[in-house]
Amino acid sequence: MTRVWLEDPWQVAEHDFPRYATPEVQLRFLLNYAVLAPSVHNTQPWRFRVVGSEVELYADRTRALPVADPEDRQLIMSCGAALFHLQVAMRHFGHQPQVRLLPDPDDPDLLAFVRLGPPEPATLMDHRLFRAIKKRRTNRLPFENRPVPEAELWALERAVEQEGAHLVIVQERTKRYELAELIAEADRQQTSDPRFRRELAAWTHPARNESKDGLPLTARGLREWLGPAGPFVLRTFLWARGQVARDRQLAEGSPVLLVLLTDQDEPMAWLRAGQALDRLLLQAADYGLAASFLNQPIEVAEMRTRLRRWLATERWPQTILRLGYGPPVAPTPRRPIQEVLLQHRYL
Ligand SMILES: Cc1cc2nc3c(=O)[nH]c(=O)nc-3n(C[C@H](O)[C@H](O)[C@H](O)COP(=O)(O)O)c2cc1C
Repeated sequence: MTRVWLEDPWQVAEHDFPRYATPEVQLRFLLNYAVLAPSVHNTQPWRFRVVGSEVELYADRTRALPVADPEDRQLIMSCGAALFHLQVAMRHFGHQPQVRLLPDPDDPDLLAFVRLGPPEPATLMDHRLFRAIKKRRTNRLPFENRPVPEAELWALERAVEQEGAHLVIVQERTKRYELAELIAEADRQQTSDPRFRRELAAWTHPARNESKDGLPLTARGLREWLGPAGPFVLRTFLWARGQVARDRQLAEGSPVLLVLLTDQDEPMAWLRAGQALDRLLLQAADYGLAASFLNQPIEVAEMRTRLRRWLATERWPQTILRLGYGPPVAPTPRRPIQEVLLQHRYL
C-alpha cells in the first residue's frame, strides 16, 4: 500500500514513491513535495487537480492578503515556488516535467499545466535540489558574522538567471546599511497601518495551535511565552516599533542581502519570479545557507519606487532576502494534499 495521503506532508518519504502505480497516483504522491514550498505568511494559496498524467495548478485567491499583497503578486509567486518544488520532485524520480504557464487566457486562476513527461535520468543538481526540499526553512533568527563564499553567490545568481529573473547582491557594508534604512522606513509605514497589523495577526498562531497554515509565533522569532495572547500583541503599536528595530538589526547584521528582480511586473513575471526564488532558496539550503525575507520596501508602493531608484534599475524588485549562517529552526506546518486537491473538472 503506497503512502500517498499523509496527514503531514513533511513526513513524505522517498522510498514510498509508487514506482509502478499509474501516473495519477504518482502525481498525487509528488504533490506532497510541492506543498512544502514557501508561501507568503504560509498561506499556501494553491489548489491542484490531477488529470491523467497532468497536474493543473490554480491560485486560491480566497487565501489572498488584501493589505500586504493587494495585486496577488506574492500569492502568485508562492504558487510559482510550489510549481518549482513539483518539477524538482518529478526530475528526481526520473521524469522530465513539461510545463505550460498561464495556459488559458480566459482563466487567470489556472496558473500552469505540468505534465509528467518522458523518462529522463536526473542530474546531480536535480538530486541536490530535491534533498534540499526537506532541509529548507525560512530562518528569521540572527545570522553569524561569517561571509558567504563568492562562488556560491555567483552560482545563486546564475540559478536565478536560469529561471528568467535577475539578482542584485548587496554585500558592501555601507550599501547594506542604506538598504536596511529603506527596509526600516517601509517597515514603519507598514506597521503603523492597523489593517496591516490585523492581517498579519490573523495568520499568526501560537505554536501549539493545531493550525496547518499560517505562522507559528516562534517562526516569527517571537517568544512562545506570549502564548495565546501573541496575535493580540502583534496588533499593538508597541510591537510594531520593536519589529522595525528587529528588522533593521537583521538587515544590517546579515553578511549578504539579495534583491530578486524581473523585467516585467505582471502575473507571468510573478510566476517566473516564484520559480526563480524557489531555485535560489533550494540551492542556498543545499549549501547550508539560511535565508529570510525583508520585503517591506516592495510591499509599499511608494517605497518600491524609491528602491528602484536606489538600485538604479528599470527592472521590478520582487523579493529581498537576507542570507547567511543561522541556528536550526523548526519547520512550519502544511495542509495535507487532501485539502488542496480539487476533484475532477466536471464534478
Ligand atoms: C513570495 C513570498 C513572500 C514572503 N514574504 C515574507 C516576508 O515578507 N516576511 C517573512 O518573514 N517571510 C516571508 N515569506 C516566508 C514565508 O512566511 C514562509 O515561507 C512560510 O511561513 C513557510 O515557512 P517556511 O518557509 O519555513 O517553510 C515569504 C515567502 C514567499 C514565498
